[in-house]
Amino acid sequence: MFNSKALLASTLAALASFAAATPIGPSTDIPVTVTVCSGGVGVGCAAVPTVSDTCVNLTGGLSFLNKEISTVTVPGGFVCTFFQDFGCTASGVVNAGTNSQVFLTAGTWHMNNVPGLSGRTNFNDLTSSFTCSPI
Ligand SMILES: *[C@@H]1O[C@H](CO)[C@@H](O)[C@H](O)[C@H]1NC(C)=O
Repeated sequence: MFNSKALLASTLAALASFAAATPIGPSTDIPVTVTVCSGGVGVGCAAVPTVSDTCVNLTGGLSFLNKEISTVTVPGGFVCTFFQDFGCTASGVVNAGTNSQVFLTAGTWHMNNVPGLSGRTNFNDLTSSFTCSPI
C-alpha cells in the first residue's frame, strides 16, 4: 500500500538537507549596486554594479563622476571604501593624510561628513575609485 505520509516526510527531509547545504550570507560573486551621485540624493547619479573586492575606477563611462561624488547609497550588508586616488590605494598625502579614504556602511551618505581613519571628514568631490565587500 502506498504511504503518502512517509513520502511527504522523506520529501521534507530532502528539502531540509538541501536548505542546510545552501551557503548563508551575501554572495561575493553577484554584483551589489552602489548608487553614486554628483549632486544631492537622486541628482546626477549612476547605479554602479560592484563585484566584491574589485576596484571601480571612475574612468571611462564613469569619468563624469571623478572628483564629483557628493552623495552615495550603500546597500545593506556591505561596506564600501572610497579613495581619493585611482586603483583603490590610499595615498595618505592629501585631505588630512589618513583621510584619503573613507568607509561607508549601509545607507545614504553625504560625502561632506563621512567616517575616515581619523574621524569624520569632508570627502565631497574627492573620490576617484571605490571598492565594496560584504560585512
Ligand atoms: C584603476 O586605475 C589604476 C591606476 O590607473 C590601475 O592601476 C588599475 O589597474 C585600475 N583598476 C581597474 C579595475 O581598472
